[in-house]
Amino acid sequence: MLKKSIVFALSFSALYSITAIAQDQELSVKYNHFYDFYQKRAAELVQSMSLEEKIGQMTLVNMAAIKKESLPGNWDAIEKYNIGAILADGDEMPETKSPNLSDWQIQMKSINSHTALVKKNGTHIPLLLGTDAVHGNQHVANAVIFPHNIGLGATHDPELIKQIAAWTAYDVKQSGFNWAYAATVAIAHNYRWGRTYESFSSDPDWASQFAQKYVLGAQNIDDESHQLRGVLSSTKHFIGDGNTDNGTDEGNVTVIDVVKFTKENKAGYEGAFSAGTGNVMVSYSSITDMSQNLDTMPMSVNEKYLKKYLFTEDDSLPRFNGFTVSDYTAISKAATTRKQTLAFHQTLAEAVNAGLDMIMVSKDDISMISNDSALSDHSDNISAFQAALLFDCNQGLITPERIDEAVTHILQVKLAMGLFDSSKTALAPPEGDENKVALQAAEESLVLLKNDASVIPADRRAIKHVILLANNDTLVNDIGTQCGGWRIKWQGLAGNDYTDFHASSILTGINHIAGDMVTINSDKSDTNNTNNTIVIAVIAEPPYAEMFGDRTDLTMNFDSKTLERIKAFKEAKIPVITILISGRPMIVSLSDDAPLKMSDAFIAAWLPGTTGGDAIANAIFGNYHFGYKEGVNTLSFPWPENMEQVNTGRLVCPSIRNTGDPKPLDNYDCGYGLRT
Ligand code: BGC
Repeated sequence: MLKKSIVFALSFSALYSITAIAQDQELSVKYNHFYDFYQKRAAELVQSMSLEEKIGQMTLVNMAAIKKESLPGNWDAIEKYNIGAILADGDEMPETKSPNLSDWQIQMKSINSHTALVKKNGTHIPLLLGTDAVHGNQHVANAVIFPHNIGLGATHDPELIKQIAAWTAYDVKQSGFNWAYAATVAIAHNYRWGRTYESFSSDPDWASQFAQKYVLGAQNIDDESHQLRGVLSSTKHFIGDGNTDNGTDEGNVTVIDVVKFTKENKAGYEGAFSAGTGNVMVSYSSITDMSQNLDTMPMSVNEKYLKKYLFTEDDSLPRFNGFTVSDYTAISKAATTRKQTLAFHQTLAEAVNAGLDMIMVSKDDISMISNDSALSDHSDNISAFQAALLFDCNQGLITPERIDEAVTHILQVKLAMGLFDSSKTALAPPEGDENKVALQAAEESLVLLKNDASVIPADRRAIKHVILLANNDTLVNDIGTQCGGWRIKWQGLAGNDYTDFHASSILTGINHIAGDMVTINSDKSDTNNTNNTIVIAVIAEPPYAEMFGDRTDLTMNFDSKTLERIKAFKEAKIPVITILISGRPMIVSLSDDAPLKMSDAFIAAWLPGTTGGDAIANAIFGNYHFGYKEGVNTLSFPWPENMEQVNTGRLVCPSIRNTGDPKPLDNYDCGYGLRT
């Protein structure tokens, strides 16, 4: 056992004492060889497989690709191509075009009745079925959506994160999938990055601990049977996705000091390895290592970095023992992001030789293959990808040993998942109520930045008017925006479609407590008594995912109409509470009428998910107390004052802050959060 002790500084405002939490984090090496247990069986199976069958196991495609080449309503392209794994990509829906649980279940059952067959001995190799369950089983209508990772980071509640992962795994299994592309364990350094919300914290120790708990909850390893009871958890995106220059999604990381780079970006992986994660997704981003004079190298083909930091043989530290997968279309991307564009087949060989065991192929790869003159299959089919891999093998660009190694890694994990074991019992639901867990997470994730004159908690008995304000009327009643990206659609879905009565918008949450006292976007003149009125203003980023969330300016203001109203309320001494729904800390204090300055109380609510409305209402009216236990409701990222600070890419938690790095706005540092 390796013991790591963390000292986490909580710097509360002047009103509160400066405290420190010491936590013990066990980074165990217990799972360093977990999947090797199945090595012999996997290797034997590999020996009986043809090269085409092996290539099939290394192929991960989306459902549309399989459907396109199968008979209607059938999924027979699985057998045709010996497919090893299928994913539902960000925008995929069941064939019925309806994402209801039953539609998914029917479709996945049908897909799962097909398997690659090893002709020599008649073994059926079950499929890995992947989905981006990054904050709950988001592809499914009415699913419970938990806060995105940035909010989970603010809970600073590792056991709760474990419960969330366990519920997500249960939901993923219920819908017929067995592989969740979560958690992202990036350390976001620059909030311009559109995936900042997928990052837990810029404190590596916390990121490590949360990643560890996430994997433990999701995979639910049963030590006795040596099997995963939950789903396979993909820890992503290795390495440096959150540290790219200018925060550009899929961009380049300029590494000056390798030790510093690994310290700042690897911790989440160590946490995940210590919990036995069976899969790592390799990052789109590239590395330019100045310290070793290395040219820009995409991680998907970055043999040096993968060998040194992912396939380390140091058993004194947690190490990875599962299989690796490329990101979607990563081979084509890696082919074009270097000084010289390489042909698809060359890049593919580089990737496999660098250590990628499975390749996530998309339509865009297929179109790049058609420009590769060395290859002859230029069809729009899965065959074109497999022919490219076969070509590399036949040309000696990839050795038979490397193919066997890759397929063995994949089969070891499939065996550990019990996929070959038909007697495996179904996963029981975790204890408790999933919506309550989500509500607790949403409540603990809220960070109270300002609370002048203790406006919060508002006294429910004294309040007679609650005025909800927002830049547009619908925003106060918008569960989709509260959930952010990766819900039903890749880019998320604003509005209340595909949510049920368990979900609450800010409006319904406040309604649950304050009932008919609520009015929306009204003016001061509508209220008779200024002493018994509160204003709740909502500002929000619209949903986004990946590069569509990259921004150069993170300033957030009230629009002129809302501002006019707020000014009038302030003049009448009516308190204004502002709720910020966002995937990252925003610039909210620059001008005199900026939201933080115009508000008596200010809550950073992140992307709190389907129970966000009730959580916010409970917190405002004192049914929930901010900071009710040590550490909860505190920042896991420092808050910026201006874009210059953000642009440095160095506005990070104190544990990795260097002299000269910017300091946060006021005392809004990692660990800050007012209590009520
Ligand atoms: C993302 C991954 C995701 C994959 C599959 C990629 O674009 O970078 O995080 O798991 O798509 O949907």
